[in-house]
Amino acid sequence: MIKEKLKKEIENSLIKNNIKICFPIIIQKNKFKKMGHFQINNLFSISNKCKINYLILVKKIIKKINYKKMIKKINFSKPCFINIFLNPEWVIKEIEKIFRKEFFFKKNNKKVVIDYSSPNVAKSMHVGHLRSTIIGDSMAKIMEFTGYNVIRVNHIGDWGNQFGMLIAYLKKKNIYDINNMSINDIEKIYCQAKKTSLIDKKFLQKTEKYTAKLQQNCNYYNNIWKKVVQLTLKKNKEIYKLLNISLKDQNICGESFYKHIVKKIIKNLLQKKIAVIKNGNVIVFLKHLKNRKGEEMGIILQKKSGVFLYSAIDIACMKYRCKKLQANIILYYIDSRQKQYIQQIYEIAKKAGYISQKTKIKHHIFGMMLSQNNHPFQTRSGKTIKLIDLIQTSIQRAKKIILKKNKKITKTKLSDLSKKIGIGALKYSDLSKNRKTNYVFKFKNMISFEGNTSLYIQYTYIRIFSILKRFKKNVSNLKEKIMFVNNDELNLSIKILEFKEIILETVKTGQPHLICKYLYKISSIYSKFYEKHKILNKKNKKIRNSRLKISFLVSKILKKGLNLLGIETIESI
Ligand code: ARG
Repeated sequence: MIKEKLKKEIENSLIKNNIKICFPIIIQKNKFKKMGHFQINNLFSISNKCKINYLILVKKIIKKINYKKMIKKINFSKPCFINIFLNPEWVIKEIEKIFRKEFFFKKNNKKVVIDYSSPNVAKSMHVGHLRSTIIGDSMAKIMEFTGYNVIRVNHIGDWGNQFGMLIAYLKKKNIYDINNMSINDIEKIYCQAKKTSLIDKKFLQKTEKYTAKLQQNCNYYNNIWKKVVQLTLKKNKEIYKLLNISLKDQNICGESFYKHIVKKIIKNLLQKKIAVIKNGNVIVFLKHLKNRKGEEMGIILQKKSGVFLYSAIDIACMKYRCKKLQANIILYYIDSRQKQYIQQIYEIAKKAGYISQKTKIKHHIFGMMLSQNNHPFQTRSGKTIKLIDLIQTSIQRAKKIILKKNKKITKTKLSDLSKKIGIGALKYSDLSKNRKTNYVFKFKNMISFEGNTSLYIQYTYIRIFSILKRFKKNVSNLKEKIMFVNNDELNLSIKILEFKEIILETVKTGQPHLICKYLYKISSIYSKFYEKHKILNKKNKKIRNSRLKISFLVSKILKKGLNLLGIETIESI
């Protein structure tokens, strides 16, 4: 961890000067390599806090630095920076260490529950489910890699009003057998039901009644429910498989799982006077919740009809994850429109004492996918786009690009590669954006050998793979030490050393785009290196072997990094 180590070195120098500091020293990568590899960015505030003129402070730091270890040189630059040059010898030592070991983090015994994907049942997955599914899955992989005990949860929406709707419409149309229906048929019925409910009040009341019946465990309703859930999950499973998402059947723990707990929760909240009954509904009023007129607003947990709402189930679920699962961290990957909602659930759960002190709860929001005109990403006629269609288009586009590059490719290879490239591109174009904001989805430039794309990174991996293959011997057995004969090797090696730091930063922020940015950067540094210097053809064996070792490390990072994003590497096109 270079930055952490540099901080220690600077701190040590301050201690030797009898200067005590109890605030962070901010170390950043230097944009201009000539000015040094890293720099201290908050020198001015350090000098203010220590009440020492910053020029004197600089002199003191420079004087007492230990130049035998990681720092070779430091200097001052205007307006107020300290530039740090790393010691190439130290970089070689560190690089050799990771060459001999795998990238590895110790187990930390912390349990993290990750709630992601979580689509509603009775509908097929649409583009709106892409972000939660792939960001959540990538974070699950990253947290697992860094030593957490990860519990993946697919909190499917399988206990709500959509069943009342479906059943009411089936009854209206005298349909009693749904055994031969597909998910598309079910979806159509649901849409019809929804339309009817908007114009027919009696129908709407029936939907409510039937949802209540389902929730009271009536057999007839339960059978329809089971069938619809099975049908939906089968389709979703196909999508997860195609997208290479690590959610399995055993990770499904949806709304219906809490059907017994939720009753007790309502009782308990009423007893504790956190919830009240108003007009027959069970409601919680939170003091700061006011409507536009300034009146107190409430969150309904259970309706007069007896129907339990999404909110009640989420309170039960939060308690279950804290108390029963004993989670240290709970992460929700739900879009930003539910930000306030999750805050409310959290507040109610906290008030009721359902949250353990040791549990940290975070809602990792994300923005929406938009189309070119900044409108929601839909078909031209305003319909939602099915996720499966988006995936297939991406695969088809990848196929065309591969065929341009290699006309003689076999059918099986084409089908395999187009999935790896097409799905990789779809994931990468999303994961490389800061998740907190909306973004405009474009197929254009998404699958390209140039620019910040997954294919560019996959292609860099192919280049290294082919060098290593041509070398014929096993690079990991090379005895010669890594050596730097130019600055490009040093800079590439420093970039390699940053990998672990970037991963930990991603864990901290829940932002996989940091890994994307890093992989793109190291790929472009490597590509430049590859174009400028001989590697396998270098006559001097020592230099050749050193370059092979560095290349090997880059390829390992690319593979691991892409895999953490849920993207596969390719060995040839
Ligand atoms: N099913 C919900 C939806 O489609 C998302 C559920 C997210 N998880 C949760 N615990 N509320 O909007």
